[in-house]
Amino acid sequence: MFELYLDTANAQEVARLNAAMPVFGVTTNPSILAKEGKGLSTILPEIKEVLGEQARFHVQVVSTTTEAMVAEAVQLSQLPYDIVVKIPTTVIGLAAIKQLKAKKISILETAIYSAQQGFMAALCGADYLAPYVNRIDVLGANSVNIVSDLQLLINQHNLNCKLLPASFKNTRQVMDILRLGVNSITLPSDIAEQMMIHPSVQPAVDVFSQDWQDAFEGKLAYQS
Ligand code: E4P
Repeated sequence: MFELYLDTANAQEVARLNAAMPVFGVTTNPSILAKEGKGLSTILPEIKEVLGEQARFHVQVVSTTTEAMVAEAVQLSQLPYDIVVKIPTTVIGLAAIKQLKAKKISILETAIYSAQQGFMAALCGADYLAPYVNRIDVLGANSVNIVSDLQLLINQHNLNCKLLPASFKNTRQVMDILRLGVNSITLPSDIAEQMMIHPSVQPAVDVFSQDWQDAFEGKLAYQS
């Protein structure tokens, strides 16, 4: 099943978008929570109220040593939600995944900028990998090639790991990545909204309405 996430901690935005999109859960990071000015103890219940019991939350550790990341991840995983713990893909983060997988904790490896870095995370046992599409492109590298290589390696080695590409700044980037067959994606609210709209749609609907009124004046379709 495809998993569509919103990359936000704003419950109002989640509610607005979830009304018209099949939102599987949300992804957050320390910057997103800082921008919202709310911690997990506030935003997790708010968003669970919007999305329901089955909502999945990807939440990131802020610790900076392997031991502290492991301890923080254990605490996060015990919160009463469907939690995937995000660990930065540094050397100390990779060491943390190895320990956390032994404890059967769900892990997303975040801040992936290269295929080799993502492959190491998958081999260490990550359940999800989050390549940073726009940040990769801004560096002059090719996010499509990197995500494509990662999907190829996951398939070739039959790794139990999903790609969850993140960091999008336009819908072309989203479509370029979706075309690769990834299992999940996380979108900021503005890009999620743009996925649903096109400037030509409302004019087309307006013409249908006018034509209908001209011919059938106030009747509904089943009354015609
Ligand atoms: C999600 O896991 C990432 O933290 C996020 O998508 C990064 O996005 P940005 O590059 O827009 O900050």
